[in-house]
Amino acid sequence: MKIVRVNSETLGSKIAFSIIREATEKGAVTLGLATGSTPLKLYKEMRESSVDFSGMTALNLDEYVGLPVGSDQSYAEFMKANLFATKPFKETFIPDGRAADLEAECVAYDKLIDEHPIDVQILGIGTNGHIGFNEPGSSFVAGTSVVNLTESTIEANKRFFASASDVPTQAVSMGIASIVKAKKIILIAFGEGKADAVRKMLYGEVTEDMPASILQRHPDVTVILDDESDILI
Ligand code: GLP
Repeated sequence: MKIVRVNSETLGSKIAFSIIREATEKGAVTLGLATGSTPLKLYKEMRESSVDFSGMTALNLDEYVGLPVGSDQSYAEFMKANLFATKPFKETFIPDGRAADLEAECVAYDKLIDEHPIDVQILGIGTNGHIGFNEPGSSFVAGTSVVNLTESTIEANKRFFASASDVPTQAVSMGIASIVKAKKIILIAFGEGKADAVRKMLYGEVTEDMPASILQRHPDVTVILDDESDILI
């Protein structure tokens, strides 16, 4: 894995954007996108850039189960507000967390991923090492699935909701097997809360107990770290 150390989130986000821009110049047409606080500045870079994404496809990693349509906390709304409303893509996909048949939704999402192979996948990382919403213990060979969120994830994400009890307990998440099919992966980690997960991801055992450790086996991963998330500084 290539590690890029930066002293600010702004610089890290600019570097992430420059990797995306270079990939698009070389023909990348499909981006895998993430939500959460981590990519916010990257999406600002994208919004403010002159790059035209209107010929591109975006597939998001995950969505909460059961939030009302239009809920500000849904990842569909997050993506609209932070990127798609300003920078239209040709098509954008996000799992439907309100589907009546969630299992069928997972199968359909895997089909979409197969039809739109991801050229560049953006990832954040959970404090417990999750990628997408693939919590510790998730199978490395699983496709899109309905996942139960751990207490630590609900705790971490409650800041976006009125209270922890408002955070959905389940999500639909692209599986680890699909994530690692991406040709190029950029994982961004900011803040000291991520340092332990970053250390285990980079230098620990490759194990389903630490989902992000699978990235050690991927041929093209760039990890962008700020001072606080970087255990070696
Ligand atoms: C969330 C998302 C992940 C994200 C991670 C970290 O729960 N499902 O895609 O990478 O947790 O979030 P943040 O960037 O807010 O720290």
